[in-house]
Amino acid sequence: MPNSNLQAKEIRFASCPQGEPSQENFTLTTVDLPELQPGEVLVRNSFFSIDPYMRGRMNEGKSYILPFALGKALDGAAVGQVVQSRDSGFPPSAWVLSFCGWRDYFVSQASQLRKIDATQAPPSAYLGVLGATGLTAWVGLNDVARIKEKETVFISAAAGAVGSVACQLAKLYGCQVIASAGSAAKVAFLKNQLHVDYAYNYRESEPLRQLEIAAPDGLHVYFDNTAGPQLEAALGVMRNHGRIVMCGAIAGYNAPSPGPKNLHQVIIRRLRLQGLLVADHLHRMPAFLDEMIPLLRAGKVLHQETVVDGIEKAPDAFISLLQSGDAHIGKLVIHV
Ligand SMILES: NC(=O)c1ccc[n+]([C@@H]2O[C@H](COP(=O)([O-])OP(=O)(O)OC[C@H]3O[C@@H](n4cnc5c(N)ncnc54)[C@H](OP(=O)(O)O)[C@@H]3O)[C@@H](O)[C@H]2O)c1
Repeated sequence: MPNSNLQAKEIRFASCPQGEPSQENFTLTTVDLPELQPGEVLVRNSFFSIDPYMRGRMNEGKSYILPFALGKALDGAAVGQVVQSRDSGFPPSAWVLSFCGWRDYFVSQASQLRKIDATQAPPSAYLGVLGATGLTAWVGLNDVARIKEKETVFISAAAGAVGSVACQLAKLYGCQVIASAGSAAKVAFLKNQLHVDYAYNYRESEPLRQLEIAAPDGLHVYFDNTAGPQLEAALGVMRNHGRIVMCGAIAGYNAPSPGPKNLHQVIIRRLRLQGLLVADHLHRMPAFLDEMIPLLRAGKVLHQETVVDGIEKAPDAFISLLQSGDAHIGKLVIHV
């Protein structure tokens, strides 16, 4: 039965993009919310996450996660507060993490939600530095790369959500950090706020040349967020037995990106390339938070985010996330 008091706004998936997404792939709709049943809660979202992997969910076909359903609301990570409850474990005003982004209000089984501690950090941090984003960076460095002190690490898309956490952790682990990004403002952020050892704009300089200058003895680890030309450059300067964390391939999300022409370097240099999907590592969340919350509270890790106000701005924010440039630094979130 509809809850006569309340309607919700949601953004629906209207059509599959060909190449870059555009406004016409999304529609903003108002829906009636149902009356609460026992065990359910009504949540008002405060922030939801916009992520590059969502572009893959706009394509038809099999992937590691189901595609978005045409005509239905998009979804993804969100944080919000309970406003009505029929579950004693989730009283009104409790902060919760859900997978019900791209909308302002929603009704859910309480069992589908995870409580978050908003006294430890701002709620939006649980979408970024304390959420799947931060976990991706932490698992990529610790469990996949098995990084060691004094190693030389290159991180691409370094001023973004995952990249900015990876840079900070690698510095804290005592590594030499080389970082690339697609604008002067991002390069300045990497140098001045994250204190990486070397940062450059990969769009205005030749990536291989930059890596040769920054790491004359080669890279122990490449944390790859882009694939494409930057992966090719890294393959050209890896040390023997180096490790490449294959985290993202954003250079090819909107249009196919040419693969590296020098893949044979994997054999010559006896490299280990390993794909990472954060969903396989959720059991590491408690250990990650045990390390990360004290670092954040001590100011040793920066919670860097770009907040876009208004649910109706989410499609444009998502479109810009898939482009290089200054539109966001750190984690991009929508403030509802
Ligand atoms: N494997 C996993 O479980 C997992 C989890 C989270 C994220 N990821 C991946 O990690 C990567 C970063 O994700 P994020 O959430 O942290 O996003 P993000 O870095 O905050 O945002 C994406 C950034 O990618 C860069 N970019 C866009 N088009 C590009 C292109 N053609 N070539 C090179 N760079 C381009 C842009 O930065 P510049 O201006 O610097 O170019 C953009 O700001 C993505 O590939 C994502 O799919 C993987």
